Amino acid sequence: MATKTPVVDVHTHMYPPEYIQILEARDDIPIVRSFPGVAPDPRIVLLSTEMAPLKAAEAKAASGEQPTLESLPGRPLTTHYASVAQKIHFMDTHGIDVSVLSLANPWLDFVASDEAGKIAASVNSGFSAMCAANPGRLFFFATLPVTAPADVLLQTIKDVRKLPFCRGVILGTGGLGKGLDDPEMEPVLEALGEAGLIIFLHPHYGLPGEVWGPRGGTTGEYGHVLPLALGFPMETTIAVTRLFLAGVFDRLPKLRMLLAHSGGTLPFLAGRIDSCVRHDGHLWKEAQKRRSIWDVLHEQVYLDAVVYSDVGLQAAVAASGAKGLDRLMFGTDHPFFPPLGTDEQGEWESVSMNADAVAKALGDGTDAAKNVMGGNAARILDLVAGEQEKA
Ligand code: URA
Ligand code: ZN
Repeated sequence: MATKTPVVDVHTHMYPPEYIQILEARDDIPIVRSFPGVAPDPRIVLLSTEMAPLKAAEAKAASGEQPTLESLPGRPLTTHYASVAQKIHFMDTHGIDVSVLSLANPWLDFVASDEAGKIAASVNSGFSAMCAANPGRLFFFATLPVTAPADVLLQTIKDVRKLPFCRGVILGTGGLGKGLDDPEMEPVLEALGEAGLIIFLHPHYGLPGEVWGPRGGTTGEYGHVLPLALGFPMETTIAVTRLFLAGVFDRLPKLRMLLAHSGGTLPFLAGRIDSCVRHDGHLWKEAQKRRSIWDVLHEQVYLDAVVYSDVGLQAAVAASGAKGLDRLMFGTDHPFFPPLGTDEQGEWESVSMNADAVAKALGDGTDAAKNVMGGNAARILDLVAGEQEKA
């Protein structure tokens, strides 16, 4: 009897309750604030341009005059962010068999160095417990204490490798604070590669607020569209290109990365990156000794399919080489992008847009589509066998 190819979501986040408590205690982004009587859910604020509107709303509330719901910055922190029961309901609603959970941005990037190791251990054991309570349905990408001393960070990599449901780590583009091409980041990337832990690279910082202009930034006229639609993908593209230019992929052949949002704009811009390297007076000779950005895309990079259109998905498949169909993995970005006009407990358009893009680009129900929807993730992340004992 043929076994059904599972549907796997490799891009799905949570903020566990203990993490939310940390954000509630903060005075700057990332921050969580409640406005009782105005908004049913607390607000989570992640973008620096939203700190001034948050302070204004807090001042208004303190003066006794309530801010309007529409004027509140950030987004509602609904049960979708913190509840594992809600995650399972979301999976069931959308026919998702297995989810590979990850902490949402900005992870532990802002945590004090001496606390980071302990917080990471607590977050990772929280995710482990969620997975253990839902065997076969949940796995996770672990969180790293990137601000911790090097020995603590490297020990965390050793520790998470042994967690039975851990299938890699989620990492922002900041690295230890100076980006992923920082030479001090290389031992960390090397340790991850040697441990066989795939890095799920995810953006958070976008581009500097000025590029959005006053209307796209502080006045909030364009909502979150510019930073999320354009800032996030450019951030990922820049981070991977910097790693490539620094020669890290060549020096660390075991390094494997899953890039969020189908690699940002990398599939579209790889040819231009390649050409700029070949025509750069400083780099062209050295580049002849190295593999090209295309080689890296074909051999060390996987892309998620969170691109919302068959056009972007086709580019992602093509950029991933002859085996492109083997390197793409479906994702939802839940709990971000909930439906705004319909019930959040029902179907989410942000999910169907990604599933429809796969069907349109690769054919509904074809083997290629099934692999992108889950077969690839099951194989690459070793999800089928369920809990695995690790050495
Ligand atoms: N998706 C994410 O993962 N994070 C955000 O902040 C917004 C969308
Ligand atoms: Zn995401």
